[in-house]
Amino acid sequence: MSVTIKSAREIELMRAAGKILAKVHQNLGHEIKPGMSTWDINRLGDEMIRDYGCIPNFLNYNGYPASVCVSVNEEVVHGIPNKKHILKEGDIVSLDMGLIYKGYHSDAARTHGVGAVSEEAANLMKRTRQSFFEGIRYAKEGNRLSSISGAIEDYAESFGYGVVYDLVGHGIGTHLHEEPEVPNFRTGRRGIRLKSGMTLAIEPMINAGTPDVVWMDDEWTVVSRDGSLSAHYENTILITEGEPEILTLTEEEAAAMENGEW
Ligand code: MF3
Ligand code: CO
Repeated sequence: MSVTIKSAREIELMRAAGKILAKVHQNLGHEIKPGMSTWDINRLGDEMIRDYGCIPNFLNYNGYPASVCVSVNEEVVHGIPNKKHILKEGDIVSLDMGLIYKGYHSDAARTHGVGAVSEEAANLMKRTRQSFFEGIRYAKEGNRLSSISGAIEDYAESFGYGVVYDLVGHGIGTHLHEEPEVPNFRTGRRGIRLKSGMTLAIEPMINAGTPDVVWMDDEWTVVSRDGSLSAHYENTILITEGEPEILTLTEEEAAAMENGEW
C-alpha cells in the first residue's frame, strides 16, 4: 500500500476520530492514581472508547490482547495490562491508545506521572513531548520526512537521552498502520516529500539512558535494555500547505501549546 492522500471528507472523519481520542486520553489521564492496576486503566479506556460509539483499534491487532498499551517506567511501549501490576506513587506510565470512528483511525500516546514523580522523570516526560513539537515544525507540504525525524533526534539527544530506533511512527487512515514509516531519528535516507492531505502518527519513544531496547517473553512488552525510564508521546497529524493540524489534541492542550505553556 502506498502513501494515501485524504480527501476533504476523509479529513473531516480523521478530525472527528482524533477529537474523540484526545478527549478519551484526557479523561483517562485524570483517572490515574496509585493503587490501581494497569488492567484497570485498560478497562476504563476501553469503556470510554465504546461510550463514544467507537472501536478500540489495538484490541486483537496482530493478537495484541488489550485496548490500551500501558507501559510503566522502563517499559517503552506495548506493555500488556495486568491485574497484578499495581501503580505506585512515583511511577511514570505511558498510555498508547487508538480508535476507529466511521472507518477512520486515530492513534495517540501520553506519558503521565503517578502522583509526585522525580525531577528526572518529569524532565523526561516534558522533553519527550517537546521532541514531538520540535519535529512537527518541519511537517509541511514540500519538506522531506527526514527533517521531522532529524529534529526529534537532535532535540532528545541534546539532553543525553537515547532515541529508540527499533520502533517508528507511521501513516494512518483507513488502517492503523499505513505508509510511510516515520522514524524519530536520521536513517541516512531523505524520506518522502510531504504532501497536503497526508495523515501521520508521529511518536517519539525516548529513553533516559541508552537507546537500546529488548522484547520481553510475552513478545509484546518492549523495555529499555539498561532499565532506564522511558517516555512516549504521540499524535495523529494532518499535513497542510502551512502549519500541520494536530488532530489528537484537546482544546486545553491546543491552548497550552499556543500560549507557550509547554
Ligand atoms: N500506537 C502503536 C503503534 O502505532 C500501536 C500499538 S500496536 C498494538 O505502534 F498492537 F499494540 F496495538
Ligand atoms: Co502509533
